[in-house]
Amino acid sequence: MTIPAELIQRLGTAKSVTVLTGAGVSAESGVPTFRDAQTGFWAKFRPEELATPSAFRRDPRLVWEWYEWRRKLVAGAKPNPAHRALAEMERIFQQFHLITQNVDGLHQRAGSRNVIELHGNITRTKCFDEGTIVSTWKDTGDVPPKCPACGGWLRPDVVWFEEPMPEAEMKQAASASTHCDFFFSIGTSTVVFPAAALPGEALQSGATVVEINPRPTPFTARAHFALAGAAGVVLPELVKALSASRFGSRVSP
Ligand code: OAD
Repeated sequence: MTIPAELIQRLGTAKSVTVLTGAGVSAESGVPTFRDAQTGFWAKFRPEELATPSAFRRDPRLVWEWYEWRRKLVAGAKPNPAHRALAEMERIFQQFHLITQNVDGLHQRAGSRNVIELHGNITRTKCFDEGTIVSTWKDTGDVPPKCPACGGWLRPDVVWFEEPMPEAEMKQAASASTHCDFFFSIGTSTVVFPAAALPGEALQSGATVVEINPRPTPFTARAHFALAGAAGVVLPELVKALSASRFGSRVSP
């Protein structure tokens, strides 16, 4: 894919860049997205039916096992060229914020440092009743395992539907989206709020907004640039073109 020259030219002068990522960014690492067709046993369930406190209360074993399956997938997955290109972008721009809806930690494993996790992290576990983070527990054969402090169920430290968003992260994300020159919406279907509102807030605040997604989303028509392609292909090309435009004219020693 050719990255529009105008985009590279404008991005070359940007001081502050904010990126919102969704499940599509990890798709090329083999982590399934939520709304693309699921395969295997879990194809029978909609994420909205599993990722809620009421689903957990109704069938804690089913929900725990779904996350166990995702946790194992993530542990075996590796960051892909999209994650690495975003880590590279953090080094290029004076101000760079990476907001992610992903709970897989792949951005950090690729070298990104300033990551705002809006939906938690699947590698952490907490007590369902008390909300305290629990890092070790006895294997008693219970599924889900029991909290060592209170005996309640353990659950992943992720944000479920029907639950409040983490306040500090939401504040940081809103501020980063409304105070940037450039905003990228990458690999997200932009249907789950409040994260889905961030590209529009960036747009209203005057940022140039770019979407990267192989398929159109409800936001596509509003983006200044919509790059229809896989993040693992488009982002490395974008970083390459950007580096060439910034440093290409310099004489090498
Ligand atoms: P979705 O599964 O809703 O959307 C994934 C998006 O990634 C789709 O728009 C795809 O077209 C796009 N996509 C697929 N492959 C891609 C690739 N290689 N490169 C770029 N884009 C690609 O995932 P999210 O938008 O992240 O929340 O979903 C948002 C939230 O809904 C999730 O964080 C999760 C979910 O239910 C909770 O669990 C609270």
